[in-house]
Amino acid sequence: MYKSLLRPILFRFDPEKIHHFTFSSIRFLDSIPGFPALFRSLYEVKDPRLEREVFGLKFKNPVGLAAGMDKDAKMFKEFSDLGFGFIEIGTLTPKAQEGNPKKRSFRLKADSAIINRMGFNNGGVQEAVERLKKNPSGKGHVLIGGNIGKNKVTPNEDAVSDYEICFDALYDHVDYFVVNVSSPNTPNLRELQDKEPLTNLLQTLQDKNAAKPKQKPILLKIAPDLTDDQLLDIIDIVKVTKIAGVIATNTTISREGLVSPDKNEMGGLSGKPLTKRSTEVIRFLSEKSNKAFPIIGVGGIHTPEDAIEKLEAGASLVQLYTGFIYEGPALIRDINKRLLKGA
Ligand code: FNR
Repeated sequence: MYKSLLRPILFRFDPEKIHHFTFSSIRFLDSIPGFPALFRSLYEVKDPRLEREVFGLKFKNPVGLAAGMDKDAKMFKEFSDLGFGFIEIGTLTPKAQEGNPKKRSFRLKADSAIINRMGFNNGGVQEAVERLKKNPSGKGHVLIGGNIGKNKVTPNEDAVSDYEICFDALYDHVDYFVVNVSSPNTPNLRELQDKEPLTNLLQTLQDKNAAKPKQKPILLKIAPDLTDDQLLDIIDIVKVTKIAGVIATNTTISREGLVSPDKNEMGGLSGKPLTKRSTEVIRFLSEKSNKAFPIIGVGGIHTPEDAIEKLEAGASLVQLYTGFIYEGPALIRDINKRLLKGA
């Protein structure tokens, strides 16, 4: 129904406006008694064979929502009702910020892709914390990853303290952390992926983590545009800092093979053109590290087969963003069903 009926209507409008409209609609529907159960019956696949234990956490299924969709932690319950096994909120920054001027998100229909240059628009970490308090541990708890970054106005020399502020604020309210140094939309952010600053950033967070009564998994989210040498550095850094794992990948700055009119817009490209490269990165990390750490695979998953490929390349879990926009919530269900067939 989504692809044949809803999508043609939604895709007529500006992507960001539709994002807010769909958010409000899902939220409204999910607040009507009976609808959460209806959503679950339509999209959730419940089966113990889908459960995964990864970096000490128990996931009800391996299909998660990627960062950027629910930046401000407004919809984790509703997305969980649509069948996602875990939700990544963020990227959150210490202070609220507007992000880049609109228009900043472009649908590349002929390429089944999106280019975005949102620039970490978010309400600030503290506002998200207030919402996350509605997700206490225990029955009904939704597994949440907190994706953290730095404010645009913070120079790279002071970036570590921005990540520390977010880590401290979110520590009691998320199940795992993601250090985002791979967005192409915050000037110079990706320089933090270089070996020295990255080791320093991750070690600082790990030291903070070690001082807590219970340690939370910290993951690193990387760009698909890293060279093989840079990926080998990442493997070293994970080993040295002993972080829990890697999320591969964020959006790409490549524009190879695109045909859509908006193909030269500035920003990060996601969706089908990214499928192959992000799987290559997963395979490279998994093989060269001898499966030393878990990987969450994300980038261009539009079909169950795309998800299987990422899992076979070495991912333990997968996440969706653009595929979810193009295919709708049935994609979550179809991936889980396909996994059960092969189980
Ligand atoms: C993103 N993505 C993203 N990633 C992140 O770590 N922090 C963020 O704030 C955002 N924001 C964001 C906004 C929009 C509009 C898009 C399309 C994407 C990247 C996302 O989580 C994912 O890594 C990539 O989009 C690749 O996966 P898909 O979209 O091809 O499934």
